[in-house]
Amino acid sequence: MIELCPSILNADYSKLGEEIKEVESYGIKSIHIDVMDGHFVPNFSIGQGVVKSIRKNSESYFDVHLMIDNPEKYIDSFIDAGADGITFHIEVVNENIYELIDRIKSRGKKVGISVNPATDLPSIDILKLIDILLIMTVNPGFGGQKYISEMNDKINKARIIKQEYGLNYKIEVDGGINAETIKEAVEAGAEVIVAGNAVFGQEDRQKAIHELIN
Ligand code: DX5
Ligand code: ZN
Repeated sequence: MIELCPSILNADYSKLGEEIKEVESYGIKSIHIDVMDGHFVPNFSIGQGVVKSIRKNSESYFDVHLMIDNPEKYIDSFIDAGADGITFHIEVVNENIYELIDRIKSRGKKVGISVNPATDLPSIDILKLIDILLIMTVNPGFGGQKYISEMNDKINKARIIKQEYGLNYKIEVDGGINAETIKEAVEAGAEVIVAGNAVFGQEDRQKAIHELIN
C-alpha cells in the first residue's frame, strides 16, 4: 500500500488552508511541509508560523521535512506548531544524532532521517531507531526538478536492509515524482511518496492524484 504525501511547496500560499482541504477531500491523509533555511539549501520556504496556522484546520498527518542546519534548535518549535513527524538531514548532524532522535521520540512524534542523493544510507544502528527514511531523489531546495533514477538502487538497498533486519522504518521518496517516476520508485521499494509539482502544481488535483496512485 503506497501513501501519497503532497508537498505544499507548490501550493498557493494565499489560500493554503483551502488548498490542503481540497486534497484531503480526495483522500489525502498526510501533508509534506518543506522547511528551507537558505543555508543548507539555496532557498527559503516556510516556518513554524505557517505550520501553526494550517494546523488549525487540518487533521492530516504533518510530515515536516527540515532542510536546515542546526535542526536541534528548531525541532521543539516545529512540534509545538503541530508537526506529527520531524525529518532532519543526516548531513547536518554528527554525534548528536541519537540525542535528536530521542528528543523527537520523547515528544511522541515520528522520527525521520533524510539522505541527499550523494549521501549513503545511515548505519543499521540508526536505521533501527527511526520511523521514516526519506531518500531524496533530487538535490533538495527546489520543486519541479527531474527525478534521479540512480536513486532507485538506494531505495532498493533500503528495502533489502529493512527486510533482512526486520526494521520498521517507512521508505519515503522526495523529488521529481510524476505518474511515470512513481512507478520506478515504488518498484524499488518506496512506500511513502512525496509529490509537489505533480499535485499542487496541477490544475486538476483530483485527476493528478488519481493518476499517481492508480
Ligand atoms: C525538494 C523538496 C520537495 C519538493 C518536491 O527540495 O524537499 O519536497 O517539494 O517537489 P517536486 O515533487 O516538484 O519535485
Ligand atoms: Zn521535502
